[in-house]
Amino acid sequence: MNKIIATISGVAAALPDYILTNEELSTMVDTTDEWIMTRIGIKERHILREPGTGSSDVGAKAVLSLLEKTGTKVEEIDLVICATVTPDMQFPATANIICDKVGIKDAFAFDLNAGCSGFLYALSTGCKFIEGGRYKKVIVVGAEKMSSIVDYQDRATCPIFGDGSGAVLLEPSKDENGIIDELLQSDGVGRVHLHQKAGGSVKPASHETVDAREHFIYQEGQPVFKWAVSKMADVAVEVMKRNNITPENLNWLVPHQANMRIIEAVAKRMGISPSQVMINIQKYGNTTSATLPLCLWEWEPLLKKGDNLILATFGAGFTWGAIYIKWGYDGNKTNN
Ligand code: UT7
Repeated sequence: MNKIIATISGVAAALPDYILTNEELSTMVDTTDEWIMTRIGIKERHILREPGTGSSDVGAKAVLSLLEKTGTKVEEIDLVICATVTPDMQFPATANIICDKVGIKDAFAFDLNAGCSGFLYALSTGCKFIEGGRYKKVIVVGAEKMSSIVDYQDRATCPIFGDGSGAVLLEPSKDENGIIDELLQSDGVGRVHLHQKAGGSVKPASHETVDAREHFIYQEGQPVFKWAVSKMADVAVEVMKRNNITPENLNWLVPHQANMRIIEAVAKRMGISPSQVMINIQKYGNTTSATLPLCLWEWEPLLKKGDNLILATFGAGFTWGAIYIKWGYDGNKTNN
């Protein structure tokens, strides 16, 4: 029997309405548009502000749009994997809540946390279910309300993050296109540089942890930056090499959107030009598990069947990886 290849057969996204600009941020902390644009490359980010809403709300919007675009009925979905570091609650899983909000009943659903590499790890996981032959339609959704864990008194981290969601549908490929190769790695020593100090089992929430602002993202920017450039470039180059992808026949690098300077450095080490790189960090910031599907969604109209894409990420853990995709369809998927 021929090996089953999983392919992305549709992509959708959702963004909250409110836009937090660098100008507004400059009224909240001691920063400037110029510093943020020069050091990070972000102009604005979307923020989910409505009280009582969480990652599942923006995630459910992306999934509903995906179902509509691909003409898929809720009953057809076998599995939903939600990548997130900002679940609605510690439990149940945000994937279960998304399923409930969009009307998916009885599907297998769970969350996956791999920091900013969450979407890539979830995509790899989703592929295995398709490749195994038992699952036919799998949704992988990255959904984040990063603003719920950003300290808007910490000028070194608050400009970086934004809220949003992106989702893809995975199905068995009908041809040779699809998700071809991957190299995913991690190293737990990196946890000291990027984490959330309290709220887990080691340090449960208390008055003291709240007073000490320990429920927000803690990040030491410089070591994270250095690791991100070297690890993302290493795996992306390795995946290119072992699949005979050259700078000439690579159509797109789809990089995690954490810092414009990281993206540029990775592209340079891969020997590719800026015109081969999907970049939308200036509009959305770092949406953690949603950056990659937000890029795919925005570039979908330009993508062609057979295009060579390398997706690459780096995030808390540390986690990082690269996936090689031969894109499965031409242009914008519409249900008609
Ligand atoms: O997605 C998860 C992975 N995360 C990442 O990939 C993030 C990786 N790291 C980075 O992107 C960068 O390290 C940051 C954007 C977080 C920081 O940029 P940096 O160029 O490494 O700046 P820095 O932390 O070395 O700070 C340089 C200076 C400091 O001032 P002094 O000590 O030189 O006087 C900071 O206090 O810039 C200052 N600074 C700011 N100034 C104006 C830090 N944040 C700001 C700010 N506005 N928002």
